[in-house]
Parts: sequence; structure tokens; C-alpha cells
Amino acid sequence: MCQRNEHSGQALSDEIVREVVFRVQRYSPGQDRPVTREYRVPVTRGMTVLDGLHYIRDNLDATLSYRFSCRMGVCGSCGMYINSFPRLACQTQILELNSDLVDVRPMPNYPVVKDLVPDLSQLFAKHREVQPFIIRNEQELEHPTAEFLQKPEELLRYLQFTYCIKCGLCLTACPTVATDPRYLGPQALAQSYRYCADTRDAGAEGRLRIAAGRDGVWRCHLAGACSEACPKGVDPALGIQLLKRLAVLRALSLKKPHSPAPVAGKRTGVERRPGIPQPPPPTVESR
Ligand code: SF4
Ligand code: FES
Repeated sequence: MCQRNEHSGQALSDEIVREVVFRVQRYSPGQDRPVTREYRVPVTRGMTVLDGLHYIRDNLDATLSYRFSCRMGVCGSCGMYINSFPRLACQTQILELNSDLVDVRPMPNYPVVKDLVPDLSQLFAKHREVQPFIIRNEQELEHPTAEFLQKPEELLRYLQFTYCIKCGLCLTACPTVATDPRYLGPQALAQSYRYCADTRDAGAEGRLRIAAGRDGVWRCHLAGACSEACPKGVDPALGIQLLKRLAVLRALSLKKPHSPAPVAGKRTGVERRPGIPQPPPPTVESR
């Protein structure tokens, strides 16, 4: 017999297959330092770490605070440090952790608001700083002369970076962010590349100025931890390397008067990581 989890709506077997200990880091504003609390949680098949936190809040400790919304790996709200790795709580099966202990902490490299709730203001501020939108000249916007068509192969230059859900787990994993809070970080820089590589965009010049600045791409030491952590199969480390290439081309073009601003070339190597669905078929005819 199956029941539905009241929060996730997932079908759950009601047979308890294991009992695990959730060791949860707790913190409230005004406390000197965080403390850890342990809770015994009965686990059924299909239970995620987010379901475990719901169980604690509903049955053991109603004061536990954490973020979630979609419960299906889409909204990016439930990022946490689970058994020493950055993960989405709603995508992490307790039984697949293969441990009797589930250690849950707030994401490192962010200030903590309360318990497992990080303050993501810096993530969103950095995201805004790279102008994450298509920029066209005003005349074209006001008096468009044609549709902005894009060929499927042009879409593939940046498609994987559009899968970012802004969960911020890549910043949690990044050793440079840990030591330099001003560094723009993998999420924002990968998004900067995403828009620079879009053939409909005319804003690469401004974005590359920011990306090549003190807090930009040259702070990245290519640890690759961001790409390991990304739950959506995005490869932000690759985006940063491609952005470095554009920044160099821009610097060279500035030395030659009247040369055009660099655009992302054909060789981008933006294949998606294995296991990630391929893009849908093109919806416009290429010309
Ligand atoms: S690149 Fe991946 S890990 Fe980083 S914010 Fe986007 S989805 Fe999250
Ligand atoms: S609750 Fe939305 S990604 Fe986990």
C-alpha cells in the first residue's frame, strides 16, 4: 500500500526500511555560534532529505527552518550541505546516501539567516551585475525590421547554461568564493558567457569589461568544483574558460583600432554532461 507525502505529493511506500539520524546544524540570530541537534527519522522508500526535514518539523521540532518550494529540482530553493557535499535536498534520496547519519548544514560561503536558510542576496546581486539579458540597440527595439531568428547550432553554443536554476550550489563548492567574497563566481560568469554567446545579443562589450575586471574570470583557478556540484548538469567552469577566451580576444581587438568586438566563435565545446536530456528540436526553420 502506498501513501502520498503531503508536501511533495510523491507516492511513498509506508514500509519503514531504516531509521537514520539527522544531524542538523541549528542557528538563530543572536546566538554566538551554531549548535547541532540530532533527530531520529524513520525512512521509507522514495524519501528525500527534504521529506526527512518535513518529518522533523511536523513531528519532532516545529522550530526548524529551511527553504523549499517546487520539491522537484526546479526552483533552486533547497540547496544545502548534505553529508559534506552541496546538494538539493529535494533531489537527494536518503537511502542513496548509504549512511545511517544524514548530516545537514546550511550552504557554506553564504551568511546564515536561520538554521538551514542561507542569505542568497550576494548570489542574486552578482547575477544582476553581469547583465543577464539580451541587449539590443534601442532603434531596433522600437522599430524592429525583422524577427531575430537563430539557427539550432547557434542555440547549442549556450543552451546548457540556460539550465541554471540559480540554486547557488556552485558558489558553495568554489574555493575562490570561499577566500574572496567579491569574486563574481561561477554562476554569474557562466551566465555572462551565456548572453555573450547569444547571436541576438549586442551587449558583449559591457559584459566582457566586467568579466575581465578585478573580480572576474582571472580569479578562477579552474578547480572545477562548481561543475561537480551543479545539480542541473551545467558546466560553469567551462563557461568561465570560454569567457576568458572572449576576454582575451576583446583585449587584442582593443589594440587594433576599428576591429569589431569579439563574438563567441564556432568552436565552443559546449556539449552537455552525460545523463542530461538533449535539447528539444528547433522550433524555427533555419535560413
Ligand atoms: S550553475 Fe548549477 S550549481 Fe550554479 S547556480 Fe546554476 S544550477 Fe546551481
Ligand atoms: S524545492 Fe525546488 S529545487 Fe528543491
